[in-house]
Amino acid sequence: MSQIPSIPSLAAQPKTFIENQLVLIREGLRDVPAMKGSLDGVSDAELVALATYFSAQVAPPAAKGRVDKASLERGRELAKSALCGTCHLPQYQGRDQVPRLASQQEQFLLDVMKEYRDKPGPGRDTVMAAALYGINDAQLKDLAHFFAHTR
Ligand code: HEC
Repeated sequence: MSQIPSIPSLAAQPKTFIENQLVLIREGLRDVPAMKGSLDGVSDAELVALATYFSAQVAPPAAKGRVDKASLERGRELAKSALCGTCHLPQYQGRDQVPRLASQQEQFLLDVMKEYRDKPGPGRDTVMAAALYGINDAQLKDLAHFFAHTR
């Protein structure tokens, strides 16, 4: 359960999602500067064990900071109309290769959505660039605010 705004929580992320990301990061196929080198020499079996462990943890509580009710409602409506729940599930808990969004760090969500929208690079699934196409910065903030305060 991350206490750092730009770093994601791992607890309760779907096992397959964690496994995939660990492999991509270890192989250098997805560039996450903060993670660089930290998975060097970690075996496939150990990556699976890490994913099994983190996916079995209880999900973090919803964000505790100040709630902007109007922003949260705009985020809820947009997530609904943009059909984010078809892949991330209606409660945004994720499944299989699709990550959990509920109670994730707000700043991390905002950063990662901007990255998908503006510079979808190697190791990033193109379905997310498509899902966020045409969504502006203010709307991304509303989405991040909503997900962070949802559990
Ligand atoms: C077609 C299925 C699909 C739809 C629709 C979709 N997503 Fe995703 N989303 C994914 C997948 C798959 C990933 C993991 C991508 C990867 O591995 O790079 C993801 C990743 C994310 C992440 C990164 C989270 C993390 O922990 O790294 C965020 C944030 C996100 N989606 C938000 C949204 C929002 C907001 C919407 C609606 C506007 C949306 N998604 C719609 C499939 C989808």
